[in-house]
Amino acid sequence: MQIRQPIVVVLGHVDSGKTSLLDRIRGTGVQGREAGGITQHIGASFLPTETIKETCGPLYKKLQESENQVPGILVIDTPGHEVFTNLRARGGSAADIAILVVDVNRGFQPQTNESLKILQSRKVPFVVALNKCDQISGWRKSDTKFITQAIKEQDQFIQTDLDQKIYDVVGTLSVLGYQSEAFYRVKDFKSEIAIVPISARSGVGIPELLAVLVGLTQQYLQKRLDQKEKESRGIVLEVNEEIGLGHTANIILIDGSIKKTDTIVVAKRDSVIITKPKAILLPKPLDEMRDPRDKFKPVQSVDAAAGLKIASPDLEGVLPGSTLYIASNEDDVKKYTKLIESE
Ligand code: GTP
Ligand code: MG
Ligand code: NA
Repeated sequence: MQIRQPIVVVLGHVDSGKTSLLDRIRGTGVQGREAGGITQHIGASFLPTETIKETCGPLYKKLQESENQVPGILVIDTPGHEVFTNLRARGGSAADIAILVVDVNRGFQPQTNESLKILQSRKVPFVVALNKCDQISGWRKSDTKFITQAIKEQDQFIQTDLDQKIYDVVGTLSVLGYQSEAFYRVKDFKSEIAIVPISARSGVGIPELLAVLVGLTQQYLQKRLDQKEKESRGIVLEVNEEIGLGHTANIILIDGSIKKTDTIVVAKRDSVIITKPKAILLPKPLDEMRDPRDKFKPVQSVDAAAGLKIASPDLEGVLPGSTLYIASNEDDVKKYTKLIESE
């Protein structure tokens, strides 16, 4: 078995802390540069194995015991503002697994529910990150990055308060048909949704969040991630015109690979585009595609899963959200053209 990176979508209500969580893991400052602190595009970034290892610390050992260790993670950041339903849905449609971010002091909010519906309709498994624990009134700062330890260091009334907030989420999820529990009380990760209290600000709980996420992926998603006999395809996030590059498409390569010699087959409003990439550009690991620290690197080929940019004059007019097929021979070009025409 040769498994690819899982695609992890981060969903939740506006300002619940999705971008801040990713900034904390990547060591970036994307959120601080957003207009009004509001995410308005889908982002993607690659977390290499070293980052998972560093973030999880001693918890990484357990993950290493798996026969199918994930070669990193591709995370997709989505906007929580109510007007961006289509972007959340687009993120959800590419995802293998999700992090549903909930503000611990606010509980479920309208776009939390909407995000959950997106996951439900696509049968995407998820974990809940109960964020902003540092804002629980009376919460004591501590040095540990492990939430199980940090909880023990809180006064009893804070522990009780946190439990109450967790049970509010458990109650809400139960009405929606899910069994859930604080991750340290979960007995069966297949039937119960894990709730992980975290703080994107202090970093507490993030080792456990990532360990639970990767653990679930390695245990339950190998088949989906196995690249044997998978067709090469991706999803278009955005189409832009860029200085020096002309028309470009930011895409998430979901399965397979893309080479400069391959042919791209993708739908336009009322035609099918068949084109070769003029350039394939890859962001650096840990760089957010929509706000990179470094220049994208021109490459000859990329294996899934990855966020990347394709330059080609023919991409003008491609609709974001479209599936993009990658053909390595004439038969595949014909097959994908037919497929698109029949949709
Ligand atoms: P949208 O993408 O616009 O939906 O927001 P978001 O979910 O990405 O939230 P964002 O990261 O923009 O954070 C919103 C605000 O909450 C910012 O001011 C963050 O600094 C703050 N914030 C995020 N996480 C935490 C946390 O754990 N603790 C505290 N105290 N503040 C946080
Ligand atoms: Mg954001
Ligand atoms: Na925000």
